[in-house]
Amino acid sequence: MMKKIILTGDRPTGKLHLGHYVGSLAARVRLQDECTQYVMLADAQALTDHADNPGLIRENIYQVALDYLAVGIDPKKTTIFIQSMITALPELLMYYLNLITWNRLKHNPTVKAEIQQKGYGEEVPAGFMVYPISQAADITAFKANLVPVGDDQIPMIEQCVEVVRKFNRLYKTEVLVEPQIVLSAVARLPGIDGKAKMSKSLQNAIYLSDTPDELAKKVKGMYTDPGHLKLEDPGKVEGNPVFTYLDAFATDKEKVAELKAHYQRGGLGDSVVKKYLLEVLQTFLDPIRARRAEFAKDPEQIWQMLFKGTEVANEVTQKTLAEVKAAMGIDYLRR
Ligand code: TRP
Repeated sequence: MMKKIILTGDRPTGKLHLGHYVGSLAARVRLQDECTQYVMLADAQALTDHADNPGLIRENIYQVALDYLAVGIDPKKTTIFIQSMITALPELLMYYLNLITWNRLKHNPTVKAEIQQKGYGEEVPAGFMVYPISQAADITAFKANLVPVGDDQIPMIEQCVEVVRKFNRLYKTEVLVEPQIVLSAVARLPGIDGKAKMSKSLQNAIYLSDTPDELAKKVKGMYTDPGHLKLEDPGKVEGNPVFTYLDAFATDKEKVAELKAHYQRGGLGDSVVKKYLLEVLQTFLDPIRARRAEFAKDPEQIWQMLFKGTEVANEVTQKTLAEVKAAMGIDYLRR
């Protein structure tokens, strides 16, 4: 059987946090043994809403690459590369742009939410509007079957499937491959403030690179059940991020079940649960921090790894581009 192909990535606009880990990094680490995996630093996509700050993106390419290596994405098994250096991608985008209507783009729920959040109003950059199609170029250029990403990316994968179907139907070909999203069991990690999503812009994130002190401070200040005022009060476990984090990161499930039962009965203080969560998270992050520090000793080696990955990615995607152009009948040099 043919190995499945994975293409996935992140916009390098900041360091990665626990939400990224739960949402997609864990799956990437797990799947790299059985699949051919490409992981992309989506710097070109990051520029669609950060055109004024390429310096930020450059710095974060390095930081996110370190995060990848620290969690165990292994460049011997996974090709890690830089999006803007893959020249087939904007070319594919150019052709795919003609297959999706402007009206359809305006109704992409993730794009709509982001336009709101960024306060663009009518002044949304054109590049930003079309980034879902650019993402379809990313995925199809590698003929990826699987895309492990967070659930906010569902509309992107749907839009990619539309591009694939439209292209294959229009040009009577099977060149492009329909991808499937790989969602994690824990759909979405809430922020330390209890908001539905952990995110850099909401300033409610625990970073993979947080120091033990930073982590302790964040856990101590975490939102819990606001109705749990006195020690003997029964507390709520649902929607209580302290317990959501325990579910996601604690290995001793029995102990978590006990804590939950006790909390719901009453008589268990938040500080005790938080103390345990802090232990759990320190244990989880310790080896990640250590590996990060080790890799950070040699930045040049990180860049070399990225350049090597980029070479591989260019080869794969040029091949797809040639097939795409042939399918469209615009491979003029091959007369
Ligand atoms: N949109 C993703 C994010 O915001 C990054 C991304 C760009 C991506 N192209 C992709 C993810 C292709 C998966 C597949 O983080």
